[in-house]
Amino acid sequence: MIQNLLSVREIEIPDIELIASYWLNADKIHLESMGVDINKIPARQQFINYLTTQLETPIANRESYCIIWLENNVPIGHSNTRPTLYGEEAFMHLHLWNNENRRKGIGYELVKLTIPHFFENLKLKVLYCEPYALNPAPNKTIQKAGFGLVKEYTTVPGAFNSEQKVKRWQLSYEKYRQLYKPGLRLGFKNGKYVKQQQTQLKNI
Ligand SMILES: CC(C)(COP(=O)(O)OP(=O)(O)OC[C@H]1O[C@@H](n2cnc3c(N)ncnc32)[C@H](O)[C@@H]1OP(=O)(O)O)[C@@H](O)C(=O)NCCC(=O)NCCS
Repeated sequence: MIQNLLSVREIEIPDIELIASYWLNADKIHLESMGVDINKIPARQQFINYLTTQLETPIANRESYCIIWLENNVPIGHSNTRPTLYGEEAFMHLHLWNNENRRKGIGYELVKLTIPHFFENLKLKVLYCEPYALNPAPNKTIQKAGFGLVKEYTTVPGAFNSEQKVKRWQLSYEKYRQLYKPGLRLGFKNGKYVKQQQTQLKNI
């Protein structure tokens, strides 16, 4: 029997409190590992107002488009794009909320489930991800998911970040179409996460 089903869906109103709690309860070490400047993190109500406004905005006009990550239908993380230029390009961010879920292969599987939502729902030509260069988890995960390295440079990559070295990775629509099939769900069997349908990544 398949347990611990991984799935993804668009953000809903009750998820907003969970995302605010993730950011506001995160410890300093975790935030610094992502290149976050703790002094730039907004207050809870600002988070809630921002995410609610984004949810109420038509997708084509959203600055941030958010996908929720679930295990057995329980939210365990999120991946959002910001900035987002509908029909053109977006920058993806990855967050498994609890440390005990990390480094078990879950993030990689959820990223693969999420990428088709970004390309199909935002009509993207290219998807970028620009993690802190010294944060191995997202850099390794997206490389494994088919992104190619564009450059490494110093910038202030986001509203909560300090100036830092980042790695810019990209996945073009053409490469996405070669590698991915939308709609895949994954399950946990005999101690391993397994695919329930045909393989999603064709070449990796
Ligand atoms: C980034 C994140 C979603 C990756 O998910 P994950 O479940 O931890 O990653 P996986 O277990 O699927 O691992 C994917 C690959 O990354 C590697 N990896 C993951 N975490 C790593 C770490 N801390 N150090 C080195 N490699 C790591 C894994 O070894 C694996 O590569 P491999 O198969 O070649 O061995 C998750 O770690 C996370 O949410 N981290 C905290 C938030 C964060 O840093 N976000 C980035 C902001 S853009």
